[in-house]
Amino acid sequence: MDLGIKGRKAIICASSRGLGKGCAMALGQAGVSLVLNGRDRSVLEATAEEIRRVTSVAVTPVAADISTPEGQAAVLAVCPDPDILINNNGGPPHRDFRALERASILDGVTMNMVTPIELIQKVLDNMSAQRFGRIVNITSISVKMPVAGLDLSSGARAGLTAFVAGIARTVADRNVTINNLLPGYFDTDRLRGSLRLAAQSSGSSEETIAAQRAAQVPAKRFGSAAEFGQTCAFLCSVHAGYITGQSILMDGGLYPSTF
Ligand SMILES: NC(=O)c1ccc[n+]([C@@H]2O[C@H](COP(=O)([O-])OP(=O)(O)OC[C@H]3O[C@@H](n4cnc5c(N)ncnc54)[C@H](OP(=O)(O)O)[C@@H]3O)[C@@H](O)[C@H]2O)c1
Repeated sequence: MDLGIKGRKAIICASSRGLGKGCAMALGQAGVSLVLNGRDRSVLEATAEEIRRVTSVAVTPVAADISTPEGQAAVLAVCPDPDILINNNGGPPHRDFRALERASILDGVTMNMVTPIELIQKVLDNMSAQRFGRIVNITSISVKMPVAGLDLSSGARAGLTAFVAGIARTVADRNVTINNLLPGYFDTDRLRGSLRLAAQSSGSSEETIAAQRAAQVPAKRFGSAAEFGQTCAFLCSVHAGYITGQSILMDGGLYPSTF
């Protein structure tokens, strides 16, 4: 399917690995020029090179912490007027809520709520003026379903979801959409890290824990960053202009609900 976005410009935050990288690759395959971001410069450069080889689109890597005002400014300096913004960031570490200090609570809220809001503030009016814009916030299944030890992630991302719900309606008539994409279990470095931790604390092998975790999912497998990216690219396409203000689960059926 031609997504109709060839020649558009996208900023994909936190995209040197994992789900962000999957989104960048899929948008690149649709002919969108890309601004990639991550903190580790060498990993970021390697990903930029990989995407250039596969897609031949322009790829500009910006090594910066997207949670900081300086990091956001560095990304926007190379692309002040993106047509597409994918909001993504690291997630808070797994932790019992009793162990969260005030500073770490505020850090989590900054990463997963304040940062995407600040970036939306900076790009939305231009998208409205040009009558095309697509914003996708990568949030989490934890917005809908508690995940033990990820209460801060759930809270901050639910706050973001509520915050943008009203804003999405104010720009819908300008062909600007804002949606949230909610991953369940996707096979990325982050998931592998949590499997390793669970293996260490339980005494089981990482493979056993992974098999147990995947067995909880009706699809009986983890998702891939590539399929996540393709769904994100569709939400950014011309065909998805009538989808806005939605929270779209990609979880292989894990969240057990009728609606
Ligand atoms: N994978 C899952 O199953 C899953 C499920 C639910 C929710 N999520 C959420 O989805 C998001 C992406 O997860 P993932 O699995 O793709 O993680 P990942 O594999 O660990 O990749 C995270 C990416 O974000 C970058 N990053 C992290 N902090 C950053 C910062 N402050 N500034 C700029 N870049 C930053 C990392 O690069 P550097 O480290 O070099 O900065 C890396 O490119 C996270 O918020 C996660 O909590 C994931």
